[in-house]
Amino acid sequence: MVALTRDGLETSELPLPKDQAPHHVAIIMDGNGRWAKAHGLPRTEGHRQGTENLRRILRSCVKFGVKILTIYAFSTENWARPRAEVQMLMRILEGVIDRELDELHRNGVQIRHIGELSGIAPILQRKIKYACEYTRNNTQLILNVAFNYGGRDEIVHAVRRIVADQVPAEDINEALISRYLYTSDLPDPDLIIRTSGELRISNFLIWQGAYSELYTTPTYWPDFDESELGKALIAYGERKRRFGKTDEQLDAS
Ligand code: FPP
Repeated sequence: MVALTRDGLETSELPLPKDQAPHHVAIIMDGNGRWAKAHGLPRTEGHRQGTENLRRILRSCVKFGVKILTIYAFSTENWARPRAEVQMLMRILEGVIDRELDELHRNGVQIRHIGELSGIAPILQRKIKYACEYTRNNTQLILNVAFNYGGRDEIVHAVRRIVADQVPAEDINEALISRYLYTSDLPDPDLIIRTSGELRISNFLIWQGAYSELYTTPTYWPDFDESELGKALIAYGERKRRFGKTDEQLDAS
């Protein structure tokens, strides 16, 4: 007899039993430009295909039991890109909100934003805030969009707020700092995936990713499909997360 999950999926279709899937997956969606070049297309087409792929991966995350997906959509360093490309990345986010918000909402996706809102055009700021507010009670999947985000910048902002709040030095500890980050009420990522073969974290979730499992693949983001995500989850399932402990301590716990 074929075992089925509550969603009617054959368990054999899942890379890992749902209760063992990483709760929070974060992705550095790299390689749109190289994908476009490899296909003789403009970079804009790479970003367009990358956006389409995000729709597919969202569905796969729900299917595989991932509850939080954080995506690195625009870094504080991306402002250094050619002006036309920066504008296009801004338009992509605006277009996703304009066109996809209702469908995301119907599918139970809760949209969140991490990063610095100031610095983004006021109209886009308003749309981001609206999308977060509109979907805030959804529970199927949290889509956490890192946009105008940098890990060091996030820590600088946290420190400034801690100082502004006049927190006494002896009260400052890791838990307090975590509460001052953009991700204050989210658990740390279990798995960080980077596509397109680079072996860097590039200022992404540098505090929160301290104990995340890392997975990289040479596949460019537009080609990172459900089966690629499945491979990442299988690799995650084979890792032993030690959090600094010895094997003996882990076996005893
Ligand atoms: C990296 O590829 C990708 C980005 C900087 C942007 C990622 C954005 C999307 C996939 C669009 C979806 C996002 C939103 C806004 C919801 P790259 O251009 O660095 O590729 P390269 O390293 O090959 O040049």
